[in-house]
Amino acid sequence: MRFLSLLVLAGAARVAAAPGGSQAVLAAQADDLVFGQQKGAASTFSPINPPSIPLAVKSPYLNVWAPSGSLLSASPPNVQGNGGYLAGADPSFWTSGYGADGEHRMAWTGLIQVNNVTYQWMGDAFGKTVAKGSNANQISFEYTATRSIYAFEAGGVLFNATFLTPVNPTDYLRQSIPMSYLHIELDKHTLVGKSVQLYTDIDERWSTGHDYDYQNFPMTVLFDADTNGTSSYFVQRTNPQPYTEFRQRAEWGSVAWAVRQQPGLSSRNNNNVVTQLEFLNRGKLTYDHYPTGGPDNSFAYAIDFDVQGAGHDALFAIGHFRTPLINYIRAGPNGTSYLEDRYGYWMTEFPAYQDAVAFFLNDFDKALDYAVKLDAQIEQDAKDAVGGGDVGDQYAAIVALSVRQAMATIEISVGYNRTSKSYVKNDTLIFLKEISSNGDMSTVDVFFPQFPLLTYLNPDLLRDVMLPIFIYTESGLYPNKWCVHDLGVYPSAFGHNDGMDEAMQVEESGNMILLTAHWAQMVGNKTAKPFLKEHYKILQQWAQFLIEDSLVPAEQLSTDDFAGTLVNQTNLAIKGIEGIAAMGIIADVLNHTKDAAMYRNISSTYIQLFYGYSLSKDGSHTTLNYGSDDSWGTLYNLFGDRLLNLELVAKELYDIQDAWYPRKAERWAVPLDSRHKWAKTDWEMFASATAANGSTRDLFIEKTYDFVSNGRTDSPFVDLMESTTGDTPKPPFDPLVHFLARPVVGGHLMHMAIAKADKANGLSKKHPYAYGPAIKHPKGKKPRKEDEAQAQAIIEASRQGRLGDISTASGYAPGNSAQRRPKPSPPRVPQLNAIDPINNPAAVNAAVQAAAAGPAPQAQQAKQSTGGKRASKYVSRVMRKGRQQAFA
Ligand SMILES: *[C@@H]1O[C@H](CO)[C@@H](O)[C@H](O)[C@H]1NC(C)=O
Ligand SMILES: *[C@@H]1O[C@H](CO)[C@@H](O)[C@H](O)[C@H]1NC(C)=O
Ligand SMILES: *[C@@H]1O[C@H](CO)[C@@H](O)[C@H](O)[C@H]1NC(C)=O
Ligand SMILES: *[C@@H]1O[C@H](CO)[C@@H](O)[C@H](O)[C@H]1NC(C)=O
Ligand SMILES: *[C@@H]1O[C@H](CO)[C@@H](O)[C@H](O)[C@H]1NC(C)=O
Ligand SMILES: *[C@@H]1O[C@H](CO)[C@@H](O)[C@H](O)[C@H]1NC(C)=O
Ligand SMILES: *[C@@H]1O[C@H](CO)[C@@H](O)[C@H](O)[C@H]1NC(C)=O
Ligand SMILES: *[C@@H]1O[C@H](CO)[C@@H](O)[C@H](O)[C@H]1NC(C)=O
Ligand SMILES: *[C@@H]1O[C@H](CO)[C@@H](O)[C@H](O)[C@H]1NC(C)=O
Repeated sequence: MRFLSLLVLAGAARVAAAPGGSQAVLAAQADDLVFGQQKGAASTFSPINPPSIPLAVKSPYLNVWAPSGSLLSASPPNVQGNGGYLAGADPSFWTSGYGADGEHRMAWTGLIQVNNVTYQWMGDAFGKTVAKGSNANQISFEYTATRSIYAFEAGGVLFNATFLTPVNPTDYLRQSIPMSYLHIELDKHTLVGKSVQLYTDIDERWSTGHDYDYQNFPMTVLFDADTNGTSSYFVQRTNPQPYTEFRQRAEWGSVAWAVRQQPGLSSRNNNNVVTQLEFLNRGKLTYDHYPTGGPDNSFAYAIDFDVQGAGHDALFAIGHFRTPLINYIRAGPNGTSYLEDRYGYWMTEFPAYQDAVAFFLNDFDKALDYAVKLDAQIEQDAKDAVGGGDVGDQYAAIVALSVRQAMATIEISVGYNRTSKSYVKNDTLIFLKEISSNGDMSTVDVFFPQFPLLTYLNPDLLRDVMLPIFIYTESGLYPNKWCVHDLGVYPSAFGHNDGMDEAMQVEESGNMILLTAHWAQMVGNKTAKPFLKEHYKILQQWAQFLIEDSLVPAEQLSTDDFAGTLVNQTNLAIKGIEGIAAMGIIADVLNHTKDAAMYRNISSTYIQLFYGYSLSKDGSHTTLNYGSDDSWGTLYNLFGDRLLNLELVAKELYDIQDAWYPRKAERWAVPLDSRHKWAKTDWEMFASATAANGSTRDLFIEKTYDFVSNGRTDSPFVDLMESTTGDTPKPPFDPLVHFLARPVVGGHLMHMAIAKADKANGLSKKHPYAYGPAIKHPKGKKPRKEDEAQAQAIIEASRQGRLGDISTASGYAPGNSAQRRPKPSPPRVPQLNAIDPINNPAAVNAAVQAAAAGPAPQAQQAKQSTGGKRASKYVSRVMRKGRQQAFA
């Protein structure tokens, strides 16, 4: 490939960066410069000033934000944010904020010269690199689903900076290109009669997490002067480490920093003092592209708008490309397995990075046009889904902030055919990084809360996110009868052939069935049929597991694993029962009418028992777990009944929960459950979208809106908050758990997913959702013995492989309770008490050592005893290493 051979040349001879002498001269000249006056005018923010502003948020490794929230009275003070102003602080990788994994700042500088006076409009060069001057006056900030738009004034010139991260849900080629635009527009009228020059640069930290350690982690640069009217810098580690992260950055691959050519363009890479001072002094740059030779590099562009034909705008693009993209476990002959290298979907068209970059820049007009339309559609659909008004505006603000964050967590990959030497388009799989909470790969209970965004945009995105889970669990490599939790640790989908993944038995099995049925409804029976047919067998296996283990769930984790394990979780039971009913839909589409009747009958038998087990004695609420009368929880899994039009659950249960939540609401949210005061914004939106009652629906939206606009967090949309403080959970209230930049904010689109599903399912204002049969037995009463016996008979029949016998609607085969086997308990996971490895490094280290020393089961035990998903990342890494050696 062209790109790689050029890199070798560029890296062959590296010299020290700027000769010291010229730096000194330039610095002296800078002191003579005159800077404008500091202006104090306040920016407006629309629709809100978010906790962190998305700038270039396209993939797990191109994920750069401007932290905004800056509430100094928060405890501890919230200091990462710059109040929503683009100038004055360097942008940040998503790891910003407390709990950050090492250094998180990345240089991205913007300067503008008007009549020889230089102003800063982005980043922090004036604070660090060159003599202090004025920031441009930020007039306004506005965001949409795909754009962050700043308007500035400097020296009388008005200009805008638009950060556009395209979302192309139905166009996998465009969606897969890991790049984002920066478009600068100068106002023609205020430009007249003025001399104007623009400057922007980035540093090498876009390519590695090892900043300030240049000796050990040198960089190689390629400057591509011209590919189809574009120029680009490609910067990557000289010794790349494929499939390795450090501080969540990819330690292989290349940052691409590119510009659309125009008259007046100049470029230079050198030490940042050299390039920035040259711009301050000359308003342009010497064409000079050194290999990098130390830290504090600047890869710079300048545009002199005085030059004839320069026009009044400039277009830049920033990207991060990796080859290979990820790896994925495949079954080999005779029960062996191997890791397959997979590649970015863009490589099917653009095997050289330059061509992808040139295509991206030349595609801008189309991309902007599409983005403007998509943004408007998302905003309108959001408002309509909740009936408009103030609450509609609030909901649209939440949704628009969630789109880029959630989309950036998935990557579209293709396989490579070594015989034909070509990328295989019909082998397309999408993988998800569980950003922040532990970096797991394709976590089922994480793309589960993300799914409303995917199916709202394009249901096939959900299908292709689920596909790697189907292929792996069907390969025979995974030993458990329930569904796997994840496929590995990003970017390595090494699988869990020992079956020792973080066990969430009912959770993941229920999720896969519910999501598959939802996808089928969205695309229609005809399209869905072949896919359902192909995966029917494993879906049946999971449904059988739910039949045997979800009415009375054993002690296990739910997706909210930070809260620990619990027996008889109400919210898990209802997920499992809905999953059984959803399996009826799948069977129906395939015309397996006997199966369909069986699944429906079982779910309707179970749901009546569920009422008896789950409702509190006074009938005021469902408990958190069966029999704990004082406990309660947000029953967000009720959504499945509503979304899939199951007509399984009685309206009465909806009404009970609708009346209960307002009684338990705290200032910023309804807590997740009675154990803690923390709450999750994705589940708040699930509960909101499921509410039968408009005021309960609105309550959740209003509180989430208040939370995300309160300035108390300073990192990408935090989905786990303390409902009493409106901040990240932390002592003394709860353990510190910092969930940020996660895929699950896709769940905020639940109202929109339900609106779209209702259309597909033929529901409307005229034909509203009908709900399930009434609760048969008085609330507060224990289930009738004969009903329990019937459920027991079902479970027994299932265990004996006689489910087929009970598929007629007339009743269930009697069970023989004498033959009952004891139910196998899933592995016990102790209550978690320390979540964050930053606060408990010793425990993490111990776990890592245990993992390194011992076989997998011991490592797993250590992983569990340190508690928390974040800790498990470190352990999984070590385990993975061992496995990879085994595969080799
Ligand atoms: C800017 O500075 C240059 C060099 O000092 C000078 O020639 C030019 O006239 C100045 N331009 C303006 C608009 O002040
Ligand atoms: C800048 O953005 C504002 C707000 O979207 C818009 O009204 C204005 O026309 C834009 N100005 C330029 C120069 O693009
Ligand atoms: C698979 O196992 C069978 C039986 O042991 C053996 O005959 C065959 O050669 C093996 N195939 C491979 C590819 O190892
Ligand atoms: C160059 O870009 C133009 C659009 O600006 C496009 O039509 C053309 O196909 C591109 N050429 C190549 C060789 O990619
Ligand atoms: C790979 O390419 C070869 C040669 O074109 C073809 O025969 C083979 O079927 C391809 N393999 C797959 C898995 O597509
Ligand atoms: C892709 O198409 C080729 C040729 O039609 C076929 O052999 C292969 O099985 C297909 N692969 C997938 C994953 O569908
Ligand atoms: C779980 O709930 C079932 C049904 O109410 C009950 O029989 C069982 O004792 C409960 N298990 C535990 C450990 O509380
Ligand atoms: C899809 O199939 C199901 C089950 O057979 C049926 O109830 C439903 O009406 C079908 N939907 C459409 C749109 O044909
Ligand atoms: C569905 O199955 C029934 C009987 O099992 C059969 O009569 C009917 O033709 C089938 N329908 C379709 C569309 O295959």
